[in-house]
Amino acid sequence: MKLFLDSASLSEIKEAVSWGIIDGITTNPSLIKKAVDEIQDEGADSDIESYIKKILATAGRMNPVSLEVAGLTAEEMFTQGMRLYDLFDQVAGNVVIKIPVSSVNSRGEGEPFDAIRAIKHLSEERVPVNATLIFTPEQALLAAKAGAEYVSPFAGRIDDRIRKEAGISFDKNDYFPAHGIMAPGKPDTPLHDHQIYSGVDLVSRIAMIFQEYEMECEIIAASIRNPEQVREMAEVGAHITTIPFKVLRQVVAHPGTADGIDAFTADLVDDYTAILNTEDDSVE
Ligand code: E4P
Repeated sequence: MKLFLDSASLSEIKEAVSWGIIDGITTNPSLIKKAVDEIQDEGADSDIESYIKKILATAGRMNPVSLEVAGLTAEEMFTQGMRLYDLFDQVAGNVVIKIPVSSVNSRGEGEPFDAIRAIKHLSEERVPVNATLIFTPEQALLAAKAGAEYVSPFAGRIDDRIRKEAGISFDKNDYFPAHGIMAPGKPDTPLHDHQIYSGVDLVSRIAMIFQEYEMECEIIAASIRNPEQVREMAEVGAHITTIPFKVLRQVVAHPGTADGIDAFTADLVDDYTAILNTEDDSVE
C-alpha cells in the first residue's frame, strides 16, 4: 500500500518527504487555507502560486500531488483543471487534478453528471484525475468508468455522518469500528449511511468491485482520523492511504517500542557500547 501525506503545509511536507516513505500528497481547499493562515500568522510570504510550486518541487517528480478545482459545471471544472495542470505540472510533472465526483452542492445547485463529464474530458486530455468526496461504491464505479486515475472515498466523514445522524457525540479522532456500530439502545440495529456501515466498509466494497471488474483506478482511502484506520485500510485492500501529518506520527509510535528501547539501552554492556560509538572512517 502506498502512503500519501494529506496536507498542504510545506513544513509538514518537507519533513514527511525526508522520512523516505511518502509516495504522494493530497491537498484540498481547506488544507490550503489552513496552510496559508499559518504562514500569514508567521508573517511569511504567502504568495499561493509560488507556495504550491514549492510543494510540487518538494514532493518530487515521482510523487503525485492532488490539487482541487472549485467549479460546479463541467466546463468550469474542465477549464480550472486544465489551468491548474498547465500552470503547475511543468514544475515536477506530478500534478493530479482533484474533482468532486458529483457536481451538485447541498443547495441542489449544479447538474449531477457534470463532474463525470469533466473527469472524462480531462482524462481524454491525458490529465490525471483524482475523483474526490466519494461516499458510495457506485460513485467510485462511475468515476473509474470516466477515466479517473484515483478515487478518494472519505472514510472519516462517513463515520462522522453515521454518528451525527444517530445523535451520538464523538471526537473527530475517535476510533470507529470497521464493522460499524449498533443504534443506541437497539443492539440488533446497525447504523449506516446509504447501507455503508463504516469508512473502512466503504473502501472494502470499492476494492471488491474494482478487483471483480479489473478496473485500473487506484483507491486513495481519505479522511483518515487515527492509526487504526490506516491498518484497516491496508487490510481491506486500499491501494493508497492518505494520512494527516499528526496521524502519521502516531502510526510509527507504540509504548511497547519505547519500553523496549529503554530496556535494551539499560542492558548495554560497556564493550558493546564502545563498538557502537567507535568512529569509523570507512562508514559513510
Ligand atoms: C483528501 O483527499 C481529503 O481531502 C481529506 O482526507 C479530507 O479529510 P477530512 O475529512 O478530515 O477533512
